[in-house]
Amino acid sequence: MKLFNPSSVFKKKPDKKKSEINGAQLAPYAAKYEKSAVAEAFKILRTNLQFSIKFNEPRVIVITSPNQMEGKTTVASNLGVTFAAANYNTLVLDADMRIPNLHRQFGMENKEGLSNCLNGDCDLERAIQTTPIDNLSLMGSGPIPFNSSELLSSDRMIKLLEELKSRYQLIIIDSPPVNVVADTPIVSTLSDGLLVVISMGNTRRRDLKKTLHALDYCNILGFVLNVTRRGNESYYQYYSSRYYAARK
Ligand SMILES: Nc1ncnc2c1ncn2[C@@H]1O[C@H](COP(=O)(O)OP(=O)(O)OP(=O)(O)O)[C@@H](O)[C@H]1O
Ligand SMILES: [Mg+2]
Repeated sequence: MKLFNPSSVFKKKPDKKKSEINGAQLAPYAAKYEKSAVAEAFKILRTNLQFSIKFNEPRVIVITSPNQMEGKTTVASNLGVTFAAANYNTLVLDADMRIPNLHRQFGMENKEGLSNCLNGDCDLERAIQTTPIDNLSLMGSGPIPFNSSELLSSDRMIKLLEELKSRYQLIIIDSPPVNVVADTPIVSTLSDGLLVVISMGNTRRRDLKKTLHALDYCNILGFVLNVTRRGNESYYQYYSSRYYAARK
């Protein structure tokens, strides 16, 4: 079921760190190290998604995983960078309104964002920040609300996504862990599909089963295997039953 050979990933050394990306000190790995194995793995993930979904209209993809700290935010930000590099007008949106982190990947603030919009004091121009990366914008979570599940299942969320789809070709939503809070299945019903991140050596089989059960009625596009090795080396693999089905 592997789409590419991970051993090739470790043959290359990352190119030298760029001190700045269009003036920014912080950026996801795939932007900082454009020729690294990680950047290459995200290009493969992008290609496989392009096989899975037709990008003939604006698309919304949710990134999730069973538990905390499995790499959701890392995958969301790097995938955003990778689609933006292919000239997709892309928004990364932080729907993890409990422990928001997406803005940190870009060294940006989170004073206003999704929660403001869903609470009714929405000013999209302030909630959306332009990142230093071409074609890539960010909407942070905004201040942490006490009722994130209710906000995400509100009509305002539906309207907001419609508005965002009129502005962006691709919206990548970073979400909280499925086994911990109820928010992700709610958001997923408004999306074109999900990517489930599995952290090798951390995600347990029974936790993944629980997640798949919770996402039973959602469109799972595939799985991203997030592997961390000693020495900070890491790679990503993508599995998609649909992609394989198409090739049979
Ligand atoms: N492949 C990787 N190689 C090295 N470090 C990684 C890798 N993937 C994730 N990390 C690191 O692991 C930590 C958790 O990653 P991340 O924030 O993306 O997880 P998360 O699933 O979004 O967590 P949370 O559930 O808290 O939102 C971060 O410090 C991130 O930099
Ligand atoms: Mg996260």
